[in-house]
Amino acid sequence: MKKKCAETIISLQHINKSFPLELGGEQQVLFDINFDVCAGEFVAVMGPSGSGKSTCMNIIGALDTPTSGVYELYGRDVTGLTSDELAIVRNEHIGFVFQQFNLLSKRSVLDNIMLPLMYRGLPMDERISRAREMLKRVGLEKFESYLPTQLSGGMKQRVAIARALAGNPKLILADEPTGALDSKMGNEILQFFRQLNRDLGITIVMITHEFDIAKYAQRLIHIRDGKINYDGPMPRDDKNL
Ligand SMILES: Nc1ncnc2c1ncn2[C@@H]1O[C@H](COP(=O)(O)OP(=O)(O)O)[C@@H](O)[C@H]1O
Ligand SMILES: [Mg+2]
Repeated sequence: MKKKCAETIISLQHINKSFPLELGGEQQVLFDINFDVCAGEFVAVMGPSGSGKSTCMNIIGALDTPTSGVYELYGRDVTGLTSDELAIVRNEHIGFVFQQFNLLSKRSVLDNIMLPLMYRGLPMDERISRAREMLKRVGLEKFESYLPTQLSGGMKQRVAIARALAGNPKLILADEPTGALDSKMGNEILQFFRQLNRDLGITIVMITHEFDIAKYAQRLIHIRDGKINYDGPMPRDDKNL
């Protein structure tokens, strides 16, 4: 959906994505995807497994480029950027949260959170104080010298969120962020996303295949077979999707 925003964070315009097939030819995964996300929104992108959600997230996150179409992030067309330029865009503008946490298992909690700040050229003491501030925000200040392997799944995801927040992004992209957690820990993470969205105005785009998770967001974009079949306010239930 084309939206009127005070500030547009994401604009996908006629995005198509195909992957080459091993035996020749190609498989089209996304078909003419169009939507905008405004600053301050909490959006769930939902669809069954294999519908193209992660492919879509990879494009939004500047981890991959579309086969055709235009993608603007903060009003800037990023489709033509080199991979080095895309890496800078990612590091400066997007906080990522993944299903499997993607923490470095041999590095302390604090090191993991400091890592994205290294590329910013921040002095060490500022990196440390910023990382500590983020740890406090997720309620894990006592665990800074632990290794990720010593933490529960829910705590690991909190560390990943602290890492995502460290660079002060306006946008958090989360791909199945509760997929590896039990429902109690999952709910905690989702409540925390809500709080970040409401209190800090952070824009959140969350990918999920479950309606019970999606419904924490205010807006739902539903994908089926690589096409959007619903984009609007969060419905009461998923009967008509
Ligand atoms: N890098 C890739 N190379 C080839 N095919 C891919 C690649 N990534 C995804 N696909 C295919 O695209 C389709 C959608 O995948 P994906 O976006 O991961 O779906 P979802 O996240 O909704 O489960 C699947 O058929 C998958 O096999
Ligand atoms: Mg996926």
